[in-house]
Amino acid sequence: MSQAPAILSNHPKGLVERTDFFRVDATRKLDPIRRTTLGQFLTPPPVARLMASMFKKRREHIKLLDAGAGVGVLTAAFVEEMTRRKNKPASVSVTAFEIDPLLTEYLTETLALCRVECEKAGIKFHAEIVCEDFIESAVNQLNATLFTPTASKFNCTVLNPPYRKINSDSRTRQLLRTVDIETSNLYTAFVALAARLLDSDSELVAITPRSFCNGPYFKPGRRLPR
Ligand SMILES: C[S@@+](CC[C@H](N)C(=O)[O-])C[C@H]1O[C@@H](n2cnc3c(N)ncnc32)[C@H](O)[C@@H]1O
Repeated sequence: MSQAPAILSNHPKGLVERTDFFRVDATRKLDPIRRTTLGQFLTPPPVARLMASMFKKRREHIKLLDAGAGVGVLTAAFVEEMTRRKNKPASVSVTAFEIDPLLTEYLTETLALCRVECEKAGIKFHAEIVCEDFIESAVNQLNATLFTPTASKFNCTVLNPPYRKINSDSRTRQLLRTVDIETSNLYTAFVALAARLLDSDSELVAITPRSFCNGPYFKPGRRLPR
């Protein structure tokens, strides 16, 4: 990772702009083939902020899932939004899944900046980076708790999932079938799994193509099993 300029720790425009330095720096370094395979198209600040503003419910304790977190701009926008609210949460706990170690380096820095902002606002902050395949990890978790349900881990999730077809005979597809998810694209798999990891009074904000809403192609994906 390139050295972040000192100004980043105190950028007048806020946390999201500071994180945007990471987005630009990381995008320069991403391998083009890997970028397509992993759907590494990182969200620009205005979109991240719009998404954060869509979380409406005031919660005392927030447990946020960011699956396919990239450099962490969605979490940064979420944290910025919470720290600016009049009625702030008491705590924010983030679990960020990101499979690419190049991006988790930046993500670590983003979460450190989030911690500083939360501390300034009097919000307790906890963060965990999981550098694993989100599909595999979520499926394992759902299967493990099938007969012994434990308390749900998350009450908010923010996603810009990777968009890529999944072959019908692939391991990913087989894993998804073990939790009754039948879908042909990674993005619907991410949304379905994230929804399953939420408790009943939760909020999910995701970037998805419009094709999710109509037509037969994503019909199984729209019927999310609980
Ligand atoms: C569309 S990008 C969005 C990144 C970030 N959320 C943002 O909004 O800028 C999708 C991200 O998911 C990651 N990813 C792809 N497949 C993954 C998997 N199976 N498990 C975890 N992360 C994955 C990619 O490396 C990439 O960073």
